[in-house]
Amino acid sequence: MKHTDIKRILGAPEEYFGKQVVVCGWIRSFRDSKNMAFMALNDGTTLNHLQIVINKAEVPALEDGASRLGSSVRIEGEAVRSFNKNQTVEINAAKVTLLGDCPLDYPIQKAKTSLDYLRTLPHLRVRTNTFNAVFRVRSKISAAIHRYFQERDYLYVHTPIITGSDCEGAGKIFQVTTLGYAPEYKSAEEYYAADFFGRKAGLTVSGQLEGEVMATAFGKIYTFGPTFRAENSNTTRHAAEFWQIEPEVAFAEIDDIIEIATEFIKYIIKAVLDECPDELALLERFYEPGLTAKLQKVVDDEFARVDYTEAVDILKKSGRQFVYPVEWGCDLQTEHERYLTDEVYNRPVFVVNYPKDIKSFYMKLNPDGKTVAATDLLVPGVGEIIGCSEREADYNKLLKAITDRGMKLSDYANYMDLRKFGSVPHSGFGLGLERILMYVTGMGNIRDTQIFPRAKDELR
Ligand code: 4AD
Ligand code: MG
Repeated sequence: MKHTDIKRILGAPEEYFGKQVVVCGWIRSFRDSKNMAFMALNDGTTLNHLQIVINKAEVPALEDGASRLGSSVRIEGEAVRSFNKNQTVEINAAKVTLLGDCPLDYPIQKAKTSLDYLRTLPHLRVRTNTFNAVFRVRSKISAAIHRYFQERDYLYVHTPIITGSDCEGAGKIFQVTTLGYAPEYKSAEEYYAADFFGRKAGLTVSGQLEGEVMATAFGKIYTFGPTFRAENSNTTRHAAEFWQIEPEVAFAEIDDIIEIATEFIKYIIKAVLDECPDELALLERFYEPGLTAKLQKVVDDEFARVDYTEAVDILKKSGRQFVYPVEWGCDLQTEHERYLTDEVYNRPVFVVNYPKDIKSFYMKLNPDGKTVAATDLLVPGVGEIIGCSEREADYNKLLKAITDRGMKLSDYANYMDLRKFGSVPHSGFGLGLERILMYVTGMGNIRDTQIFPRAKDELR
């Protein structure tokens, strides 16, 4: 069906004044009077609606349904200058064709737009302004992520979704199997041996291990794809399926990768500021006052940096009654992260040099023998958005980290080889796409940054 995108017409009205156009879309509002009717039409290409003016004396009577909220229509008419202060162009309709009627039980009504309610309608909520904005920001930030790395000669790599190793060692792997319930197996080994791959397999929690393989051949790489974690905690920040961006950089040490992560975050946030002003204005109006100014500050100001040990001191001296008491060696809980970001720093902060026992096996051991060259980037309102580290490049130290944790060495033979054949210092990080989207859009629940969120007991 030949038609012009509403975004094009609103973006360059001068090109269209006086011309005949065809536009298609869904009715967002309909105002009727004796001689005239006004329709706000949205086709999804932009957050903004196009006004259709219907002069009843000139347009054949509308079909039943062609004036209802949610109905889809095709409009033929002339683009003319608009004297309404909110728009520059409108369409004087000559013909209105109903494409799909939308009966009155359409569940997306103006009065019912709470995010909780809309979450029950993932297939329809995307037609609202809120989700038009959120998913456009998601698309634009994704493009900016690729642009950042491509402009700097990083190789985009596609790491496997099905894997036999556990990068994070957190036991959150979804098993992949073709075998159903089978009580006849005498042991777990026998069961896994009979399965599709002849061994235990799962969905990847991270592309890092394979990313390191590519970085030690191509120097600079990044992944950008789905990762999976069987998170039992039902929080607003954890999803069972989420997208991760994982750059891996050979010859980079911890301070180098922190510099890259900082530049990268500023770059992609600036892209959203530049490319999504309307979307940010809407999100700011309904969800997070001051959103645009907050993001501009992220681009302009330096990020803070604090040693884990110092962060623990700050928390202990805060006088706060935390639910989880703080001691050196404990993992920082959301409440601790939020205290640091929201009350102490009020901007993104890198917490550096965590105790080795609360972090993954692959992180480089610091000279103190107790901490690792690892950092999390925490942001106000959300908490951790990036997990980052220099990798252990020393064969023997890595071997010890793996055996100390009781991990199965044979699962990591390839990974060990990278330390045997031409090992190099290298570092990388993982950014959770939905986490940064929460920060950038002001959505307080990760479920509102994904089309069909996957979480414990939630699969629509
Ligand atoms: O800190 P994580 O576990 O780090 C890694 O997976 C490393 N292998 C990354 C690397 O160095 N290449 O996860 C990285 C990020 C987190 O900071 C968070 O933003 C996001 O992934 N993330 C989640 N996002 C949504 N739901 C979950 N369940 C998440 N778990 C982690
Ligand atoms: Mg982490």
